[in-house]
Amino acid sequence: MSDFAVLVSGNGSNFQAIAEQTAGKGHNLKCMICDRKDAYAFKRAEKLGIKAYYVTYFRRSREEAEKEIYEILQKENVQLVVLAGFMRLLTPFLVDRYKGRIMNIHPALLPKHPGTHGIPDSFNSKDPELGITIHFVDYGMDTGPIIVQKSFTRTFDESIEEIEAKIHKLEHTYYPPTILSVLDKMDK
Ligand code: GAR
Repeated sequence: MSDFAVLVSGNGSNFQAIAEQTAGKGHNLKCMICDRKDAYAFKRAEKLGIKAYYVTYFRRSREEAEKEIYEILQKENVQLVVLAGFMRLLTPFLVDRYKGRIMNIHPALLPKHPGTHGIPDSFNSKDPELGITIHFVDYGMDTGPIIVQKSFTRTFDESIEEIEAKIHKLEHTYYPPTILSVLDKMDK
């Protein structure tokens, strides 16, 4: 059994899918950590009964904020860190302390369309295939070893809302089982 934490910045739909689909599967989601006080993810955490921490990045360096995150992760005995819409670039401080044990999801087929606008950038491209990427985190922005990618063929008559819904559906379907398989491997 391994314990993990989810880091989010906003809505938290992936966090909820992860909480619901990993419950009772042999690993513990110890807590959610969020860098935005007003994030809807806090309401989800309350409903789900999952401990939630707010860590501010306001007027402090990323390393300072990450020190606070690291203390929480240590206190909660977390072995795997799961980024789910966490819109901050991690520094070597945290990446080195959790080497190979930080995962991220991105709403595009990396290395295409990294950054915070993965969905509109994908939509506005001429790419015939769109999709999601689940990967381990290194020092870069949405870079690091890819674990899995899932895609669909677009018809070019879909709206951005329809594309967004398809991408989120892929995320909610594939992120939780991928996290579980990484946790299972960590136990061996
Ligand atoms: C998700 O689409 C996730 O892939 C994306 O943020 C969204 C968060 O939604 N992450 C990135 O763009 C990372 N570069 P959620 O808060 O509803 O889970």
